[in-house]
Order: sequence, then structure tokens, then C-alpha cells
Amino acid sequence: MTTRLFHLSDVHFGVEDRAALEAVERAVAQEKPDAVLCTGDLTQRAKHSEYEAAAKWFESLGVPVVLDPGNHDMPYYNLWERFSDPYKRYRRLNGRVGGALVSDDVVLVPLKTTVRAQPRLPWSDGIITRSALGETLDRLARLREDPRSVIVTAHHPLLGAEGKGKNPTIGGARAFEAIAAAGADAVISGHIHVPFDGVREFGGLSLRTIGTGTLSTRLRHGAPPSYRVITCERGGKIASELREVATSIAPA
Ligand SMILES: [Fe+2]
Repeated sequence: MTTRLFHLSDVHFGVEDRAALEAVERAVAQEKPDAVLCTGDLTQRAKHSEYEAAAKWFESLGVPVVLDPGNHDMPYYNLWERFSDPYKRYRRLNGRVGGALVSDDVVLVPLKTTVRAQPRLPWSDGIITRSALGETLDRLARLREDPRSVIVTAHHPLLGAEGKGKNPTIGGARAFEAIAAAGADAVISGHIHVPFDGVREFGGLSLRTIGTGTLSTRLRHGAPPSYRVITCERGGKIASELREVATSIAPA
């Protein structure tokens, strides 16, 4: 048996790319994936109106939805709420449209890479705290004997781009080693708006890392909007197909 996921990321409702979203809507309607996974930056500024647009869109897909929060999903203008309850708006969305994937082939294990504040700039970069990593590792430990493929989902990539100097994700290298040692088959992420797929090596350990581009108008490094179809079988068999889609941004 196989389980087919559509992996989306960085939709950034508020600056979403309508043409790109329509391409996803058509594919979901035609192909009926087992779930749509979106690894964060669901909104641009975490406004209530943006969350409402996100809720309506994910509801309209008519398939199970699995969400992770991104750095854009904490209140940007309401600093009181950002510090007192940063995930309140995200939790409300997740309660309305999100859920956990139920599959005989694959398990998705979230890893939190966002924090309400951090002692450096930019605050957009990821931090994996010891407690966040611990929660993910506890879940991975319970899956040690599980025959299903195990995929960790996170907003920020654990490692920086290959050969590009400092890792922007604090704690990312430590998390990479621990998650690889814990037997995960892949880590799926977003954030950088540029897709990638490959086996990375760090600390003598290797791990498949998969990233998907954006479905917003915030295109980076010439990468068009994209999403992925990830097909999973038991035993770590994971196939990934990148689908680039047309943008609604007019050429300059
Ligand atoms: Fe992000």
C-alpha cells in the first residue's frame, strides 16, 4: 500500500499566489491525496483575516489537512498576544481544519522550530529548543519498532544550504544528529521558499531532507511557486515529485 501526501509550505495568506493555489486546488480535486501537509508560514502577518482566508481555503480542499506553524504565524502587530500566547491564532486554525495523519504506511512527527522571541536578529530564523527536540525524540523513540516510514515535519530546515557557511537554524545541527540517530527516514520543511531533496550527512549520520517552495508571491532566488507529491510506503520508501506551478505575478 502507499500513502500519497501533497506537501505545501509558505502559503502566506495575505500575499498568497492565487494562480498557484488554483493549481493545487485542481490537483487535489483530481488526485485526492490522502492528506495535504503544510509546513508553516500559513499567513503573512498572522492577522485574523489571513487566518480566516487560510481556514476557508484548507476547508475547501475536502481532504485531511496536517499543519505546522511557521515564524509568520505568531502575532506581528499585537505584541502582548505574541508574548502571552503566541500560538493562540494558529491553534484555532489547527482546531478548525488541521488534524493528524492516520496511515498504515507513514507517521508524521512534528518538530517545533519557532519561538516567540530570540536573542538575535532576524527573528525569522529557526530555533530548536532542547524541550522541543525532546518532545520529537520521545515520539521517535516510541516508533522504533514501527514498520511505517517516519517523517519529521518542521517549518525551518535543520541545516543551512550545503556549503553556504553558518547554519541559520540554532540547534538545527544537534537536532539533525539526534533525529537521524533516532531512525527517522526523512525531514520535510519549508521556510526558504526554494525546493530541495537530498541525503545530507552531518556528524557521521545521514538523513533525507526534503524542502518545498512557496505558494505565495514571495518568490526567492528565481524559484517558481511549487508543491510536492510525496508517496510513502512502509520501511522508509519515500518518493518525492516536485511540481512547479504557474505564478500569478506578471513578468517584469
Ligand atoms: Fe518562514
